Amino acid sequence: MNLFALEKRILDKKLLIPRKSIEKRVKKLANQISLDYEGREPVLIGVLKGVIFFLADLARELSIPAKIDFIRAASYGSSMTSSRTIQLTKDVEIPIQGKPVILVEDIVDTGLTLTHIMQEVERKGPESIRICALIEKLERQETKVPIDYCGFRINEGFIIGYGLDFDEKYRNLPDLYVLS
Ligand code: IMP
Ligand code: MG
Repeated sequence: MNLFALEKRILDKKLLIPRKSIEKRVKKLANQISLDYEGREPVLIGVLKGVIFFLADLARELSIPAKIDFIRAASYGSSMTSSRTIQLTKDVEIPIQGKPVILVEDIVDTGLTLTHIMQEVERKGPESIRICALIEKLERQETKVPIDYCGFRINEGFIIGYGLDFDEKYRNLPDLYVLS
């Protein structure tokens, strides 16, 4: 696809989930997490960069104390095949051994990134790991990732906005859009 065609696809973006609905759903997730972790202090580990707004909103809706840290992974090789290799480019900085960890991710597509990150985090010996994802994409999951707290399930499409990018653009759109 040439650049002009790509730009045209961007211009054809369609509103998928408006900010009010995102806000409501994030509050619900935060309430559930607050109930489940009552009397404890989980470490929220956000997967950069797409998660920034979701994590910021989620964390501020919690009624329990929580620590916040970030991790980042990059994948090399074709994203069309499962032969991608995934490497951590930024590790967690606060100690998580013996701590309840919640991995917070923007979107789970094939599940490869999160599977790799989970393995890396597990090696640090946390008390437990749960997963919170804003969006679970169902169309091409290769690895089944158990999502404990899921914002929205969608069947298909490339999503932008509310932190999610297309080629580093459109992260700052406050609503979620699908490229049509
Ligand atoms: P996975 O390893 O295939 O699950 O890919 C996960 C990562 O790819 C996500 O954390 C996103 O950063 C990116 N990604 C996957 N699908 C989308 C999308 O629809 N919009 C924006 N980013 C996406
Ligand atoms: Mg991501």
